Amino acid sequence: MKILGISGSLRKDSYNTYLLEAAREAIGDSALFGTFDIGTVPHYHGDQDGEEKPTAVQHLKDDIESADGIVIATPEYNYSLPGVLKNAIDWASRPAFNSVLKDKPTLILSASMSPTGGARAQVHLRDILAGVLAPVFAGPDFLVPTAQDKFDEAGKLTDEATQKRLQKRMDAYIEWVGKLSA
Ligand SMILES: Cc1cc2nc3c(=O)[nH]c(=O)nc-3n(C[C@H](O)[C@H](O)[C@H](O)COP(=O)(O)O)c2cc1C
Repeated sequence: MKILGISGSLRKDSYNTYLLEAAREAIGDSALFGTFDIGTVPHYHGDQDGEEKPTAVQHLKDDIESADGIVIATPEYNYSLPGVLKNAIDWASRPAFNSVLKDKPTLILSASMSPTGGARAQVHLRDILAGVLAPVFAGPDFLVPTAQDKFDEAGKLTDEATQKRLQKRMDAYIEWVGKLSA
């Protein structure tokens, strides 16, 4: 099984990128876990969305296509998801209703420095994924609020309760992807 991890944050010390790394550790040997850096993707441009696409866009689409599932860890920016993440989804979403995202089992995680943990970004992201026909793992939102207290300086998830919650969520997600791709 192959899982593709996408962080909605481009910064080096991103809690969401750290969270994705913790998800990779939780998955362990149950699946291959690769990541894609959406910072390489240009702004969506309809004139460039022809037969031949910008190289980074083609890589994104290929990586999504070859993955059995996608794990997205996103910050919340101004009550929604970051524009870079929406931009990457827009590129990957074509052709409409028949893109590499169609039927791709997706898991949403979010980390935020605020006490709300990125909940509003998740609501918007779920809606967008419905629009591209990507099923989202059903369960209570996986939120990591006050993320600055849950990771150490090296970016390791140190909060035990969050670790346990993440392990349970990743086990259930991998089981779901396995059932869908069987
Ligand atoms: C432009 C911008 C807008 C933000 N808006 C929100 C917000 O609406 N809600 C929230 O919980 N955090 C908000 N934050 C704070 C982020 O949760 C915090 O910076 C977080 O660490 C970003 O994720 P990262 O560590 O993965 O980069 C905002 C941050 C930025 C840069």
